Amino acid sequence: MTADFPLRRTTRPVPDAERETILSDPGFGRYFTDHMATAVWSRDTGWHDHEVRPLEAFSLHPAAAVLHYAQEIFEGLKAYRHADGSVWLFRPEANARRFQRSARRLALPELDEQSFLASVEALVSADEPWVPAHGDEKSLYIRPYMFAAESFLGVRPAATIQYAVIAGPAGPYFSSGVTGVTLWVTANYTRAATGGTGDAKCGGNYAGSLAAQIEAQEHGCEQVLYLDSSDHSRLEESGTMNICLVTSDGQLITPSLGTILEGVTRDSVLELATEHGLTPVERSITVQELRDSCADGTVTEVFAAGTAAVLTPIVGFRSEELETTVGDGAPGKVTVAIRDHILDLQYGRIPDNKGWLRKVC
Ligand code: COI
Repeated sequence: MTADFPLRRTTRPVPDAERETILSDPGFGRYFTDHMATAVWSRDTGWHDHEVRPLEAFSLHPAAAVLHYAQEIFEGLKAYRHADGSVWLFRPEANARRFQRSARRLALPELDEQSFLASVEALVSADEPWVPAHGDEKSLYIRPYMFAAESFLGVRPAATIQYAVIAGPAGPYFSSGVTGVTLWVTANYTRAATGGTGDAKCGGNYAGSLAAQIEAQEHGCEQVLYLDSSDHSRLEESGTMNICLVTSDGQLITPSLGTILEGVTRDSVLELATEHGLTPVERSITVQELRDSCADGTVTEVFAAGTAAVLTPIVGFRSEELETTVGDGAPGKVTVAIRDHILDLQYGRIPDNKGWLRKVC
């Protein structure tokens, strides 16, 4: 049964002038809106206490299971303001379904799709003034998540789970924006193995990526490109984004699902590929193939796809024994065209003939 998330409005919202200053340069993940949507699940009673309430700190017992065993999952999606002032979500049903798949993998309770959507819509409606104005590719980033709140140190699925949705205005995820990033191909770290949690959106995957990210930064790269864990020969994903290659004979190739995250932007790119004269292909790609095909011009463009980063051109790869430039080292035309296509859909600048948008207010 779909839950209602009734609003208990804050009496101390961020003053209008302060909010407008934040909206003029929000960055990513630095500021949060006035409210949060929450619900609690207990093994005995199921989901209860749904509401949208003032944003405030959780009170957690030091033995809360999430602090010890990382039983936690999250989602990321955005709300976009259209030219007429209305506010829309992009494929939120896909996030709701992935949240359920992640919950199953982490032995967390599933939240039904309609309640997930209701919680996101109730929060966005309550904090509508926080959705940046139409026009300069800002949006409201929405973060639904749930975690093991029971205080208990035995290793078993927790009996009390906290669900929450928070949100904050967002500009570009990378400060280098669409000028392109260089990926560090790490030989020291892998992200996921068959049977592991690589295809679930759980905090632990991201905690495990931080040392690799430091390694990338030490080598002058913004992000990591992970290889498979069995023989370190095949491309996986970049940790916060899926990766796609464009070839001179019109293919758009991306690694097959399995141990990587099933990205909503990845899926949208695959669906839109034919409209850009490209054949979508999901298959494994070796580092050797990447190196050779960048060198001989078979791969003309590479980009990364994710909710936060949208489409980010990848202009080069670096590793202990590899230094490869993609194309001429500048963002490719196809990348920019697909990026614009997705943004045009999200901001309502072209008709939504796929039915991907959902109006909030
Ligand atoms: C997203 O694109 O929503 C992500 O989950 C990336 C995030 C970890 C910044």
